[in-house]
Amino acid sequence: MSDHQPRTSHAALLKWVGKMTEMCRPDAVRWCDGSATEAEELFAGMVKSGMAIKLNPAKRPNCYLFRSDPRDVARVEKRTFICSVSKDDAGPTNNWEEPRAMRHKLTDMFTGCMAGRTMYVIPFSMGPVGSPLAHIGVQVTDSPYVVVNMRIMARVGQAVLDVLGEDGFFVPCVHSVGQPLAPGQKDSPWPCNPDNTYIVHFPEERSIVSYGSGYGGNALLGKKCLALRIASCMARDHGWLAEHMLILGVENPEGEKTYVAAAFPSACGKTNFAMIIPPKEMKGWKVTTVGDDIGWIKPGADGRLYGINPENGFFGVAPSTSAETNPNALASCAKDTIFTNVALTDDGDVWWEGLTPQPPAHLIDWTGQDWTPGCGRVSSHPNSRFTAPIANCPCLDSAVNDLDGVPIKAFVFGGRRMSDVPLVYQAFTWSHGVYLGATMGSEQTAAAEGSIGTLRRDPMAMLPFCGYHMADYFRHWLKVGKHLEEAPRIFHVNWFRKDASGKYMWPGYGQNMRVLRWIVERANGRAFAKESPLGWLPRYQDIDWRGLDYSREKWNELMSFDRTRTAHQTLAHEELFISLFDHLPKEMIFERELLLSRL
Ligand code: GTP
Ligand code: SPV
Ligand code: MN
Repeated sequence: MSDHQPRTSHAALLKWVGKMTEMCRPDAVRWCDGSATEAEELFAGMVKSGMAIKLNPAKRPNCYLFRSDPRDVARVEKRTFICSVSKDDAGPTNNWEEPRAMRHKLTDMFTGCMAGRTMYVIPFSMGPVGSPLAHIGVQVTDSPYVVVNMRIMARVGQAVLDVLGEDGFFVPCVHSVGQPLAPGQKDSPWPCNPDNTYIVHFPEERSIVSYGSGYGGNALLGKKCLALRIASCMARDHGWLAEHMLILGVENPEGEKTYVAAAFPSACGKTNFAMIIPPKEMKGWKVTTVGDDIGWIKPGADGRLYGINPENGFFGVAPSTSAETNPNALASCAKDTIFTNVALTDDGDVWWEGLTPQPPAHLIDWTGQDWTPGCGRVSSHPNSRFTAPIANCPCLDSAVNDLDGVPIKAFVFGGRRMSDVPLVYQAFTWSHGVYLGATMGSEQTAAAEGSIGTLRRDPMAMLPFCGYHMADYFRHWLKVGKHLEEAPRIFHVNWFRKDASGKYMWPGYGQNMRVLRWIVERANGRAFAKESPLGWLPRYQDIDWRGLDYSREKWNELMSFDRTRTAHQTLAHEELFISLFDHLPKEMIFERELLLSRL
């Protein structure tokens, strides 16, 4: 479509785009068709303007490197708002402002904010186009970087407008980098407005407004804003779950497939787990990937839960991704990939900490400066990422585009806990499992602003992503489980436990397959487990040890927990519970009391 004009007769959509154009006053409006030609043209423009670097096509075909403004490198939770009509609906874990006041403020900020720029209109589907589990959004943005990223992360273009028809429902998403250009003013390589960033959600209206940031979840509005914050509200209202979860399939040597969904907080290993390669000694076991970040999960007519991955790409953390830790992720970004905030090699390829054991002798780092090993700086930002098409993934699950989703048999919750928390245990019941998810803790990572390493409660890895009152969200989980014929089993894992000398006690990565096998067999009612105050535990002999030398003593230490310390930590959950108290389902209190009495 070379004329960049809309191919839709959806009156409300046309009217909304007209209103946005009037408010933002861009120099031009371009409807995106999601084609390769369109992407090439945008990339060429960004290379010319100095925003993008084309990587060496012999090394990374059709790949580009971007360097963001150093003040715009991660999600900004402090500036993220849930503007429900009632403050109480947003709950104590979200920032809230009165929606009308917020709208006024935003209208002021957006008036004329796209001067000197093009406004792109991106119709996108979260989930396979036409799936009963999918939802449609339309994002307007003044960032061509966002357009090329959205094209990878979501299904974009005419097919979406076709499904939308003349009056279909869509989530309007408005985005601006917040840096209008005066006539003749030279653009910066990464325009943004970090002092005035707002990521705003209107849950009742189901709309999203984002200003000032061009990075990741702040700007690719289909991802965290639509697929989690707005979708969690839709899910609450319509009896399903929108979760910060990867979905994977495990095939056993008999060819039986079991799907598992797992929630780990940002930068805690979802991408790695979603693409895990079983140790070769575990012959016949195979893992396939449905998604690495978000799951939309709905009860089916048969009383089981079915999940889809609403995304169509990976926005994965680059540092520590290697042929050792995650060969499938590496293969996924071999071509057609956008890299942001990693280092550039002298031969036009990319590098980041952990990609190879030895760093190259010279790099251009993520800030554009010369870099040599031992210079005292990291070459890549800790939250640097790759945007890779899901179709590149060598272990992609064959059902990834199935309109009805895949049946989920187990949920796994996990955090980054260097002490106290055992490698794996299984909840006794659904409500016990919801309690485990609700009380999850994890040490802060670089995926959002904050002091790295401090322990924070991150219920179900949804603290920054739940679009309503967190206690109502727990209640919703309890309710969904009650109506299932076959509720998934719920597990808790911790890959991050350290010994007294500060070393990881568990090798992690591919070795996590041993834990996953036990989980899958438990979910299918097979493997043995021993009862403990925490839940069901695997014994040493319940784990498949083929190909790994791991002693019984080490295992016992890894699986141990101190009753008194655990009881004290359980009491510390009180802090979260107190803040949620007036909405908290009584099951959460009962589960805590049961846990304390078992301890
Ligand atoms: P978001 O995309 O931010 O939601 O996060 P994610 O959960 O997909 O994060 P990702 O998989 O990229 O996590 C990367 C971090 O987890 C890196 O620091 C890895 O080193 C670490 N990691 C992943 N798996 C393991 C593991 O099994 N053991 C250990 N010790 N670290 C792991
Ligand atoms: C996360 O922070 O959980 C991410 C990255 O997946 S972002 O899309 O930037 O939120
Ligand atoms: Mn995430």
